Amino acid sequence: MPDTDLANPVSSGPNSAEARDVRYHLHGYTDARRHAEIGPMVIERGEGIYVYDNSGNRFIEAMSGLWSVAVGFNEPRLVDAAANQMRKLPYYHTFTHKSHGPVIDLAEKLISIAPGGMSKAFFTNSGSEANDTAIKLVWYRSNALGKPEKKKLISRQRAYHGVTLASASLTGLPNNHRSFDLPIAGVFHTGCPHFYKDGLPGETEEQFATRRAEELDALIQAEGPDTIAAFWAEPLMGAGGVVVPPATYWEKIQAVLAKYDILLVADEVITGFGRTGNMFGCETYGIKPDIILLSKQISSSYLPLSALLANDRVLDPIIEETGRIGTLGHGFTAGGHPVAAAVGLENIAIIEERDLVGNARKAGAHLQAGLRALADHPLVGEVRGVGLIAAIELVTDKAARVALEKSGQLGALANVQLHGNGVICRVIGDAVAFCPPLIITEEQIDDLLARVKAALDAVAAEVL
Ligand SMILES: Cc1ncc(COP(=O)(O)O)c(C=O)c1O
Repeated sequence: MPDTDLANPVSSGPNSAEARDVRYHLHGYTDARRHAEIGPMVIERGEGIYVYDNSGNRFIEAMSGLWSVAVGFNEPRLVDAAANQMRKLPYYHTFTHKSHGPVIDLAEKLISIAPGGMSKAFFTNSGSEANDTAIKLVWYRSNALGKPEKKKLISRQRAYHGVTLASASLTGLPNNHRSFDLPIAGVFHTGCPHFYKDGLPGETEEQFATRRAEELDALIQAEGPDTIAAFWAEPLMGAGGVVVPPATYWEKIQAVLAKYDILLVADEVITGFGRTGNMFGCETYGIKPDIILLSKQISSSYLPLSALLANDRVLDPIIEETGRIGTLGHGFTAGGHPVAAAVGLENIAIIEERDLVGNARKAGAHLQAGLRALADHPLVGEVRGVGLIAAIELVTDKAARVALEKSGQLGALANVQLHGNGVICRVIGDAVAFCPPLIITEEQIDDLLARVKAALDAVAAEVL
């Protein structure tokens, strides 16, 4: 995620929120030197699909925060769920055979709605922790099976799986590795399924998908099939630029994995809970995973919560190994936190009762059509997406598929104009990403589209 977010100038005095933020707060995904010059954008409150800054300016939060807030920014039922649980049991853990109502109910709920025969849930507090936990369990399982050499992991270029040591290694973005001495050994990145960027002249989507599957096969052969434990992927890539898998990609990739007895880990941290128009991205793309990772929309990010779901193929050897060792030597103090679990349960209940998955399909079709109607705009190279997640790839030369000289420069200009038009999006290189709350209406989408068009027109007037 590049540092292109906009901020207010530090102008309101030495004790302003902006000045104190600059003085005391080190931000992730931010150029700290630039931050000292321009300061933060301080968000004060939220309402539905909107957030307000501390000057009272209203923005359409077209990214749901960080792809997170399914039910909008002021859902009272989540506030009540948290307060009620706080009053009853504000904290308890799940180590050494302890449990509590909310975590049991949430585990049962997740297993009942997850695709592909998942059998148990393990709880963590962030997408990165869920990914790291999955890596550890995959390794633990290989040892349990007496295959200590089966430890290598394959993810993809432009993938995003988090920022902790191992999950950042799976992430396939240069800025998550640079100066951190990552990736760790044993992690490999195969090609990204980005047809618009990486498709060859004359190549069809299907041919491109075949090429990517053949590359994966070749990498597995080169490394030794018996040494590869798992393939890691988001059903649809989010932070890498909203990369929609090309036609036939997933069936071809899964055929390769099946040939070599390699586990498939689906990172549904963004795609879970309705984003693509089905409850899970795996359903949208016909993916049959062994492990599913969930976070973000699981609680609309009102509280930190994430989960790993696994099937018996994964769990049986792990459960046996805990018996041999006498424990599973892994777990987090706040894993399955009762307040977060209660909020997660209520959030999923709202998603189901209000059919927000159906809204992602219906309002999503409206968003996708509206963005595709911008295809003739001189700066729009490609529009891609499904359900309520989308991106516009900005170019200055449509035929050559290139933007301004410096990558990300055109995207940054668009960000300025979107901000000026009251829209918060995420700019990823020269792509503008959209991932609005699942409660968004078609009327609100029309308003968003009009603002996006105005922003693009202003950028076109600047650069063309
Ligand atoms: C697909 C995916 N996996 C993992 C993560 C990491 O989640 P967190 O930031 O909660 O550690 C993200 C965050 O954007 C994500 O998009």
